[in-house]
Amino acid sequence: MEISELDKYGICDGISEIILTSGIKNPNAAPIGLIRKDNRIFIRLYKGSTTYENVKQDKNFAANVTCDPLLFVKSTFSNLKNENFKYYSLNSTKIPLLKNSASSVIFICGEIKHTEQAMTAEIIPMDAVANDYRPKAINRGLTAVIEAAVHATRYELTGDNKFLDLIDQCMETTYKCGGQREKDAADILLYEIDEIKKHVSGGKDTE
Ligand SMILES: Cc1cc2nc3c(=O)[nH]c(=O)nc-3n(C[C@H](O)[C@H](O)[C@H](O)COP(=O)(O)O)c2cc1C
Repeated sequence: MEISELDKYGICDGISEIILTSGIKNPNAAPIGLIRKDNRIFIRLYKGSTTYENVKQDKNFAANVTCDPLLFVKSTFSNLKNENFKYYSLNSTKIPLLKNSASSVIFICGEIKHTEQAMTAEIIPMDAVANDYRPKAINRGLTAVIEAAVHATRYELTGDNKFLDLIDQCMETTYKCGGQREKDAADILLYEIDEIKKHVSGGKDTE
């Protein structure tokens, strides 16, 4: 499949925040940014996640396009339930997909580079399925809760309190502009932040 065809499935130039599903035996889901530039696509996976381990081992995964804030927030902090997954057969393996995504693209890894903290893989699209093309207007409550989830993962990693302030600002927008699903996702995120606060070392600066 050509990279240019990915536009049809919602993966366009720039960084697309998708939910990556991986793991043949135990399906796993996590939000990841796909970097598309100059007709090539990459992912950068930081060490320490299940996604990192699965992709390193299997060298394949699915990128699921969705605007559902609950799927994003739940898959950031814990795994989704088995009932959220279905399977796509690629050669002799089965790759997990998200049932309720707008589209899913199956990728295999090309060249992989490892650094001390992460791996970067050029990825090759093999096939894609489109489930739902309903248009959705930009909702600032949605973009803010996704932004807050990114800050939350950085807070968990660094313990830097500046991320808590950024999360507060995002939450203000979500509770003002979001629909019920965005607000429910924000409630989960705030609960998870309280949990993270209990075990982060606190006060460390980011690089
Ligand atoms: C919108 C969004 C984008 C993210 N992008 C990445 C990414 O590109 N690479 C990465 O390693 N982690 C990224 N993360 C963090 C992972 O999703 C997070 O570490 C997650 O807990 C990993 O889950 P897992 O252990 O089930 O794989 C992102 C998080 C969010 C909310």
